[in-house]
Amino acid sequence: MTQELSADLVIFDDDLTPVQQRNLEDKTQVKIIDRTQLILDIFAQRAHSAEGKIQVELAQLNYLLPRLTGKGVLMSRLGGGIGTRGPGETKLEIDRRRIKERIRRLRGKIKEIEQRREILRKRRRRSSCYVAAIIGYTNVGKSTLLNSLSNAGVKVDNRLFATLDPTIRGITLPNHQSLLLTDTVGFINKLPHHLIAAFHATLREIEEADLLINVLDASHPKLEEENRATYSVLKQLRVDDKPVINVLNKIDLVKNHHLLSRLRRNFDSSVAISALHKEGLENLLSRITQILEEKRISVELSLPYQRSDLIALIHRDGEILSRKYRDDKIALKVRVSPQLAGRLIKYRRNTVK
Ligand code: GTP
Repeated sequence: MTQELSADLVIFDDDLTPVQQRNLEDKTQVKIIDRTQLILDIFAQRAHSAEGKIQVELAQLNYLLPRLTGKGVLMSRLGGGIGTRGPGETKLEIDRRRIKERIRRLRGKIKEIEQRREILRKRRRRSSCYVAAIIGYTNVGKSTLLNSLSNAGVKVDNRLFATLDPTIRGITLPNHQSLLLTDTVGFINKLPHHLIAAFHATLREIEEADLLINVLDASHPKLEEENRATYSVLKQLRVDDKPVINVLNKIDLVKNHHLLSRLRRNFDSSVAISALHKEGLENLLSRITQILEEKRISVELSLPYQRSDLIALIHRDGEILSRKYRDDKIALKVRVSPQLAGRLIKYRRNTVK
């Protein structure tokens, strides 16, 4: 078959074991690529952040290690020369050793990144910022949307996030609430489970998010199928219960208006936009604001006069419903995010909801 078609490469739509791959290569005499390798190659081309690149390289090396073969194995058994590459070490073994060293170094770097992210997550929780994760199938326009939204909204001037990954941006919503937007790796149909584990550090952003912005390519004929793939990843991450805004992107490419109305009917609470041409972004920002406001809770506080900093914070990230000045305290009724309510817990009188 490969000869008939004079193919140089065969791509398998499923995963192959190293032995299966080798046997097939021997039989066909052409290069064989399986699903994981193909996905890794795509991710390698598209990894934007330093972290993404490290994760892809690590996953690639882990994939490569059991697949390294060479005719040197035999020589190694016969024993090595003197003063050359160490006793019995062949090129294959040197390659293996180098790869293992590199894997160790990359793992160390990932650990550092995870620790840094954990610190940032803590800061974020303390800053009472909401987090929205932009998710969706590969190539639907997630990064374009992240850029457009962060240009459309006023940028948060917050040195707290200065060291953040380029895939995280802060914006201010129409109600003055700050929101962090995070971009995630593109989902792919049948994303192998071990790859989900490999990209866990990035995907944790989704677990931490208050809201998911699910981007769909409205001009893609298989968008329903792509959306199912996205939901299956969300299920695997056990985050399919978070509030979701379905965003129908690339409407500039949809010439058929009936199709667009059908899509809007099929996808609950969807917003139609063009991330590239910055159309419909205000609608999206107000949907985001609305959902986050619904998440706010009402609390009654009794604040000492010297904590005017907290009043400023509530003003910025929530709403003050009423305020009464007592002798030594200020009694407030406010509506704030659950995060901010948590920070104010020691000044709370009760929760009214
Ligand atoms: P991955 O990183 O693979 O997950 O891709 P992504 O979802 O981040 O998509 P990206 O933002 O890289 O966009 C993919 C392609 O779609 C780019 O060529 C964009 O210019 C294009 N694109 C994004 N939004 C729009 C849009 O609203 N209209 C049109 N016509 N093209 C768009």
